[in-house]
Amino acid sequence: MDESLPRNLHVFPKDFIWASATAAYQIEGGSEEGGETLSVWDHLRRIPGCIKDNSDSNLSCEGFKHWKQDVQLLKALGVTHYRFSVSWSRILPTGKTDKINEQGVEFYRNLCLELKANGIEPIITMFHYDFPIQLHEEGGFLNRKSIAWFTDFARICFEKFGDLVKTWVTFNEIIPNASFGVVPMENLPKFALDPVIPLEQWNITKRQAPYLAAHHQILAHASVYRLYKEEFYSKQKGKIGIVSGGRAAETPDESKESLEAAKRMINWQFLWMNEPIFGDYPKIMRDRMDYLAEKEGLKEILPKFTDEERKMVKDSADFIGINWYLSLMVGKYRNDPSNSFMENDGDYSFYSDNNEKISGDHWLRNTPNGLIECFKTIRDNYGNVPILVSENGCADHLPVQILGDPLNDYHRIRYIRAHVEAIGKAIADDLNIIGYTAWSLMDNFEWEDGFAVRFGLYRVDFDSPEKTRTPKKSAFFYRNLIDEQKKIV
Ligand code: NOJ
Repeated sequence: MDESLPRNLHVFPKDFIWASATAAYQIEGGSEEGGETLSVWDHLRRIPGCIKDNSDSNLSCEGFKHWKQDVQLLKALGVTHYRFSVSWSRILPTGKTDKINEQGVEFYRNLCLELKANGIEPIITMFHYDFPIQLHEEGGFLNRKSIAWFTDFARICFEKFGDLVKTWVTFNEIIPNASFGVVPMENLPKFALDPVIPLEQWNITKRQAPYLAAHHQILAHASVYRLYKEEFYSKQKGKIGIVSGGRAAETPDESKESLEAAKRMINWQFLWMNEPIFGDYPKIMRDRMDYLAEKEGLKEILPKFTDEERKMVKDSADFIGINWYLSLMVGKYRNDPSNSFMENDGDYSFYSDNNEKISGDHWLRNTPNGLIECFKTIRDNYGNVPILVSENGCADHLPVQILGDPLNDYHRIRYIRAHVEAIGKAIADDLNIIGYTAWSLMDNFEWEDGFAVRFGLYRVDFDSPEKTRTPKKSAFFYRNLIDEQKKIV
């Protein structure tokens, strides 16, 4: 089996970030321990049929117990950084600053200290889907107050951890759909938590809700960026960015329809969240949504930034994070209900091949050129801003009988090698890539896929009382890769 390293490691800069990542809800468990309160995911997981294998996310990897050991797993990889998220409701049990859970603060402070004692820099993500349930009950991101809630939470993070943390991420992939508990959408009723406050109270319909929720998240991001720069930066000297899901398209042909569908997909799924940071919503989106609003007799669907807001949002990121998994096939519509995001009224849209979805091969597509496309999309539209590859990985999703020994994950080695090599090529082409993050440190709770889809460099035995972690071949490979790069640069 080929375990050779990427051939172009010499082009990576000396201070390149080599990281691995997790998110609080995906690994911690213990959502009512240590003073934590529930998040939307604790509710979602109890809805029958929401989690495919009905697994109990509350146990997951029990990272809340095993965090010290997990730092040693990171050390064994030789990573320079660890990207993890803090659980909002572990730090603020009501979601607001009326009460601070010092035990939760201590948990994350200890984690940062332990990381640093082992030569690893923390990268904190402040929001990775686990929205406090109490705030959901007050309207979640549909409530304009969410901008203030998130800014207040961020202030606590800067105050409590800012002396230890030099890289911050505000939001992980702003996704305004129901599967992340933000707001129910018609196309995903299964994962919807019903709004506690009726939409009429915000003067909107279901049609407008996701756009408003995303709008508030973008404003919340920008507000936190400004807070950091104005009140904390001079002392703490850190960087702060936002992470989006990278998107690139493959089309079955070069027809006008396919290419237009590809363009729409990239705008709706990638630039929607990025372009405001460089000015405003993408023009193609604005035009389309204003046209649809008029047609549907609505004042607007895509909200507008006031001049003041636009000033706050513009240039509100020191770096852009890209979570990259695979290029999506774009072509003739194939009965995929998640298409409604595209706002197209023709029958062309994006799809991930249905057969792939069923067999799970979706997660095995090794399409590193798509990542380069993403880099170029960012550079061509917004200039050479620093980009952090904030997640990259592929899954073990097949039963052991088919996959073979799950520790021999040569497909993951091939995948990581191809992506690191592609990043090397981009760096040689002067693209401003500052780091690479392997998703994930260990197998964990993969949202609606439960524990069936595993992304870890370490395998987790979820049935064992200790949730035993064992390195897969890819963990050794990643370690060698980092070692080698450090040696030659
Ligand atoms: C991106 C998300 O940030 C992460 O939580 C998830 O596990 C991966 N995608 C894989 O689906």
